[in-house]
Amino acid sequence: MNERDSEAVGATFIKAGHTLCNIEEDADVLLFNTCSVRDAAERKAKGKIGYMRKLKLRKPQLIIGVMGCMAQRLGEKLLDELPHLDFVLGTGQIHKALETVEKIAAERSRFHDTAICPEEIDMLGAHGENSWSAQIAITRGCNRFCSYCIVPYVRGREVSRSLDSIISEAKMLVASGVKEILLLGQNVAAYGLNGDIRPPADGHSPFAELLEALNEISGLERIRYTSPYVSYFNDRLIGALAHCSKVCHNIHLPLQSGSDRILQAMNRQYTAQSYREKVAQLRDAIPDLTFSTDVIVGFPGEEESDFQLTRDLMNEVGFEQAFIFKYSPRPGAKSALLSDTVSEEEKLRRNNILLDDLQLRISRKLAALNGSIQEVLCEGVSTRNKSRWTGRTGTNFVVHFEPDAAVKTGDLRKVRITRSGNVSLFGELC
Ligand code: 5AD
Ligand code: SF4
Repeated sequence: MNERDSEAVGATFIKAGHTLCNIEEDADVLLFNTCSVRDAAERKAKGKIGYMRKLKLRKPQLIIGVMGCMAQRLGEKLLDELPHLDFVLGTGQIHKALETVEKIAAERSRFHDTAICPEEIDMLGAHGENSWSAQIAITRGCNRFCSYCIVPYVRGREVSRSLDSIISEAKMLVASGVKEILLLGQNVAAYGLNGDIRPPADGHSPFAELLEALNEISGLERIRYTSPYVSYFNDRLIGALAHCSKVCHNIHLPLQSGSDRILQAMNRQYTAQSYREKVAQLRDAIPDLTFSTDVIVGFPGEEESDFQLTRDLMNEVGFEQAFIFKYSPRPGAKSALLSDTVSEEEKLRRNNILLDDLQLRISRKLAALNGSIQEVLCEGVSTRNKSRWTGRTGTNFVVHFEPDAAVKTGDLRKVRITRSGNVSLFGELC
């Protein structure tokens, strides 16, 4: 989501005649878009912004601004902490980045605004130069209030965009050559539910309607989405996923924990068993579906037995990808009131065990695809080996292959898999 916001803000600057540059020393304006989800992300952002003080001493006209979740959480305090900073814009004010920079250039004043502003959603159609793939934010904010999570506090209440505005944005992107669209939201499957926190009843899913409408756009090849909350997969949505041919067979389905006790303390509204059942229902409908997930280790009160339940469920579901996070208390989120009982060392041990399991599973899953023929969306020259190209299967495996003279970025091509590595596949064009 931050990446998408940065792109939208960058696009408003380009439209006003500015150019983006890749080297900090060359810039007249430095904008930091920040994350608050874990303490480490905030520390890293502050370190980086602090480091820019030297640059500002050499170049006093430089304008430095901070946007995003950390800006929202800390607001004016950031101006006190970082005296070389010119402005702070919260998550609801990023659409004001350009006018703020212009104002500061004229007045040389310092500025901060962290008001929550849902209308900000209107500027989100701005895109930079997209090639074959583009992101579209369909919802903003979150109403779920998982006890560990800062997002509802820094991104505000959940708001969905209109179906028409999303479809016209998608059509505009496809007309400019985009082949793949990634739909973004804290809980994309809550799209169109007007902030109601109850998962929709069977037969009803505005997110399914959105996927069906996007599936009709000619020239669009693939639709991806991240992240949905497990309880929102009802019969209507599962049916749409199965029959929409452009919707990729890969779901990022955050699990967080495999222990019911911990899930309850996290305020996650499902049990290990209901998660398991949903995965089975999805696999019944779409047999080659792959899954990735997010898991937190070391939540307050997580015992070895809770951790084992998480480990077992992860192996049972057989996630093809997983992002493991060490619990980080976030001031303001409910769980920050609990004592952080699991030591850093123990969090690291649990983290590494899950990563080792994952690596073993991935190698096995990749090896099982040896000899198969996969449809790959061609992304371009591989960064590791310039004589090869890279692409991705709909199930989200990375494939490296020898290009032929005809291959173009954004093409869908069949590749015969000839070898598997630790994290990716190798093959030849059919
Ligand atoms: N500590 C550790 N991980 C967290 N996440 C969210 N909040 C925290 C926290 N306080 C993880 C969750 C979420 C992902 C984006 O970040 O797993 O799904
Ligand atoms: Fe945070 Fe939970 Fe919302 Fe995800 S669903 S953004 S973890 S509150």
